[in-house]
Amino acid sequence: MSWFLGASLAGFMLLGISGAIAALGDTLFPASSVAAGIAQDASPGAHIFVRLRVLHPVIAIGVAFLLTYAIWRAVKLRPDPQRQWAALGITILLVVQIVLGAINIGLLAPIWLQIIHLFVADVLWISLILYSASAVATLAGVRHPAFA
Ligand code: HEM
Repeated sequence: MSWFLGASLAGFMLLGISGAIAALGDTLFPASSVAAGIAQDASPGAHIFVRLRVLHPVIAIGVAFLLTYAIWRAVKLRPDPQRQWAALGITILLVVQIVLGAINIGLLAPIWLQIIHLFVADVLWISLILYSASAVATLAGVRHPAFA
């Protein structure tokens, strides 16, 4: 179980890296419309950042499924009301973040939305680290006061 949570966290890091590449591509090569952006992505002559940015939503959906499975499996293995609420909160945040990402593309990534998208990514990362530390400690039979 711990290795599965660890693998999901590694996937989240990869997701963050792909997000940074998408942000760089959007900043350096802004599109005038969503259709122009999609055409840019598919163009063989486009910069590597532009060609790679299409991967970010795909990685996001895959990692979101992996994380959701991992955190709810931890709830199933060691049922605990607090952990269940935390898992629900993280699942909701993942859905909100995916919706924000889609709106981001629709609005051509305005700065205010980029900041919100980055903020939610940071909140998710911190929540996932605390959740995993608590889950792994409980699964290993350790009851650290910080995670009680
Ligand atoms: C759990 C899911 C997701 C996470 C954790 C995530 C995380 C991130 C991060 C860390 C960045 C870089 C922000 C920056 O450096 O300024 C980013 C950028 C971006 N993401 Fe996501 N993302 C997620 C889902 C999505 C989805 C599903 C889409 C599209 C459908 C999307 C679209 C974008 C776009 C267009 C950018 C570049 C503009 C910006 O910086 O906001 N994201 N994402």
